[in-house]
Formats: sequence, C-alpha cells, structure tokens
Amino acid sequence: MPKTVKFTLHRELEICEIDNRMFGSFVEHLGRCVYEGIYEPNHPSADDEGFRKDVLELIKELGVSIVRYPGGNFVSGYNWEDGIGAKESRPRRLELAWRTIETNQFGLNEFMSWCKKADTTSLMTINLGSQGIDAARNILEYCNHPEGTYLSDLRKKHGFSKPHNIKTWCLGNEMDSPWQIGHKTAHEYGRIACEAAKVMKWIDPEIELVACGSSSAIMPTFPEWEATVLEHTYEYVDYISLHTYYGNKDNDTKNYLAHSLSMDQYIKTVISTCDFVKAKKRSKKRIDLSFDEWNVWFHSNEADKKIEPWSISPPQLEDAYTMEDALLVGLMLITLLKNADRVKIACLAQLVNVIAPIMTEKNGRCWRQTIYYPFLHVSQFGRGKALKLNVKSPCYSTKEYDDVQSVEAVATMDEQTDSLTIFAVNRNLEENLKIEADIRDFQEYELLQHLILKHEDLKAKNGAENPNNVIPQEKNKIKIDKGTLYLELPNASWNVIRMKKVR
Ligand code: AHR
Repeated sequence: MPKTVKFTLHRELEICEIDNRMFGSFVEHLGRCVYEGIYEPNHPSADDEGFRKDVLELIKELGVSIVRYPGGNFVSGYNWEDGIGAKESRPRRLELAWRTIETNQFGLNEFMSWCKKADTTSLMTINLGSQGIDAARNILEYCNHPEGTYLSDLRKKHGFSKPHNIKTWCLGNEMDSPWQIGHKTAHEYGRIACEAAKVMKWIDPEIELVACGSSSAIMPTFPEWEATVLEHTYEYVDYISLHTYYGNKDNDTKNYLAHSLSMDQYIKTVISTCDFVKAKKRSKKRIDLSFDEWNVWFHSNEADKKIEPWSISPPQLEDAYTMEDALLVGLMLITLLKNADRVKIACLAQLVNVIAPIMTEKNGRCWRQTIYYPFLHVSQFGRGKALKLNVKSPCYSTKEYDDVQSVEAVATMDEQTDSLTIFAVNRNLEENLKIEADIRDFQEYELLQHLILKHEDLKAKNGAENPNNVIPQEKNKIKIDKGTLYLELPNASWNVIRMKKVR
C-alpha cells in the first residue's frame, strides 16, 4: 500500500511574483552551440541570416525568456569588436578558453537579430578578463546609444538604425576561478567591476548589472568572495551571480537526486551574504540573485579530453541526458521557484548542443533531450506567483544529505490565465506515493491535466533515432473531492498538476 504525503496549498503561502527572466538560458561560443546549433547557413532549414529555423521553433516552444551571451569562459578572452562589420573581414582567432578556432562569423548583431526571431531577450556579458573599462563603455555605446557618436553611428552603418537597448548586463564571468582568462582576487575584481559599472550606468542609467559571484559553492573563496565583491560594488550593481552543475559520476542516484538541497543551501548563503553587506553599509538597496548558469554536467567529461585542440566548433560538452537527469533538473526548477523572492534571473546552461535541452546534427535533425520537458512545463505553466506548498513527506538520508524529502513540490498561480499548477517530483526510486492535497482555499478550481515524465529505465535517453523515448504522458487517475485533491505520484517521476478557475 503506497504511503500518503500531505500537501497544503493556500493563497497566503505566496512567495512572490515570478520574474519573467527566471526562464532563461545560455548561448556561448563553445563547441557546437552557436555554429551548427543556432547558426548553420548551409542547413536546409537555414533562413536568410543563416539561423536554423528548426532550432528556432524548439526554442520558441520552450519559451526561453532571456539568453546569456557570448560566454561563459569564452567571454573572458573575447574582443567583441571581432564579431561586428562585414563577415569576410572578421578575424579568425585562437580561442583560449576552450582551445578552438573562433571564426567570428556570428557576433553581437547576429545574436540580437536571432533573439528577435527566437522571441527572447539578451543578457549580455562583458569581458572583464582580457578587456576592461574601455571595452565595457564601448560595447554599451555601440549597443544602446541612439546615434551621433562614432560607435553608435558604426552600429547604424552595420545595419542597425535603432539601438539594441540591452537592459541586463553581466560584469564578466567566473572571475574567481583560476581557469578564467584574467582571473582576479575578490578585491581586484570588485574594483574593476565597480568602475566598469559606474561608467556603464553613466551611459545608460536604465540598465541593470550582475556582478560575478563564485563559480560554485565549492570554491575555496566562497562566500568571502561575494562579501568582498559586494563591499566594492554594492551601490552600482543589482544582482550577484550563482553557478552550479551537478553530476552522477559514481552512479549513486539516491544521493544525486538530493543535490537540489545543496542548490537551496547555496542560494540561502548568497542571500545571507548580500544582506550582511547591506547591513554593514546601512543601505536601503537590496541585491537579488542571478542564477545564470545551472544544469547537470558530467556525461561528456571523458569524451572532451579526447578532442584535438584548435578545431572549429568541435563536439564539446555534448551531454546526452537521461531520465534521472530530467528529475534533477525538475528538482532544481522547483528550488528556483521556491526562492523566487530573491532569484530574479536564472539561465539553464546551455541551450543547444552544449549541455543543452536541444541537440542537432550537422546538416540534419534536431531533437529534445529529456531535460527539455521539466523546463518546458515550468516555462509554460509556471508563470504568475510562486506559492509555497506545505509538504509532509517521508524523509531519508543519502551519502551526503539528511532529511531528504521523498517529494519536493511548489505551486504557481497565474491570475492572467486563471491557472493553478503544482510541480512535484517523487524522487523516491522505489515507492509510489499517494498525495492528499488540501486545496480548500481553491474551491473554485477544476482539474485540467496531470502530466508525468517517467521511464522505467532511469538511464533512458532521447536521440536522433529515438527522439520520443522519454516524453511526458497524461494520466487520468486524479480527482478532487470536498476540497481535497487525490492523486498518485509514481516512483522517480516528474509531475505537473494543472487546474483552472471555473468561470
Ligand atoms: O557552461 C560551461 C562553462 O561552465 C562556462 O563557460 C563557464 O562559465 C562555466 O564554468
């Protein structure tokens, strides 16, 4: 007999309005993300600008709200000027972060045109590794100043009469990490980030800026790095970044699926650090969080070691995701929504081919990976307000974590569409669980759908030959009776319970 888990759902458990930028992703000049991913002029589906229309369709379906670009580690050695102007005169460069050749056939203006076609906006990252304040002010003048100066007129000459008006910018990438080009101490980075931020806001006071936090919570300088960086930049920046990737190298799935607890702890520590600096500075301003790189990343590590250096768009970081990876991605999405009061931007890293929900073949097909689906569901149905769900679930311990709840869940309520949605993962690998959800506060809602992502084989994947091996199914065994919602969550499953207000 399955155990019963109790949920209580109430309007007063509101966390916050969810920022539209929570459903972001990331395009880096890395591997086949840009070339053969979003841009492949010789592909049969390419449009007049060389963008793959088959890939654009999937990205629009996924509802990606903001895309970080052009890196990543790549940005710390990138001259943005190499990617503008006539394509035939753009330089080929040694790209040191990933040891490839960058042809620069795709650059800033191509990215901005592509964003329009993908129904998304940009989260532009500047280079604070090999470049500095001068490049920061130049790229902003080129992008956002209307006209009448050398750089704004150059943009016009390049075919963009209207400014790109990019609203959110990242001040470098992972500057705490020794693998970063131009790696800095927290004091060094804090100073340059502050000065770059200052001139950027002088050019365009409307922009919002993200300072680099740590590359992950396991960096030895975390969270001292955040505190020092914010000491320098507090009044000039709006967000601090977080990055995290998890893997299941030792094949301990029970422990692997508990990593969202570490993500939650990471978020809470960064919030505390921001608020500590706020208190120290007697500031009225609040710094929020930009979780601008998060995902599963480990499958491709060995294959990447065999890639020859200095090739053009080699197949780097091409993780083929499994059913269990989709569960962890779902758990990470639930964690982000639970922290929607402070996490305002989040980017699934990355978007195409490189640790991505979407894969392509050169000159061929594209398909949805397993992790595509939890992201799709949250982006489609997780709009409006995030609501905390009180969950009374059995717990267990794993190698690294105690008090791991079998069920993690969060709800969202969208007044525009009259919809109420529960996202839940049963991370228990053996047991199905019965849910009894007290939804008396939502008597006027009726059931629409229970979507489930589940596969008996936790290592099952999708590929070009079997793109629909792991896909969501609709389940019918669900009912509401006198203010209680009854359903069953199968073991190791991602669930979306959709309700709508009766008119
Ligand atoms: O997303 C892949 C890489 O992970 C990014 O380039 C870097 O910022 C991070 O270490």
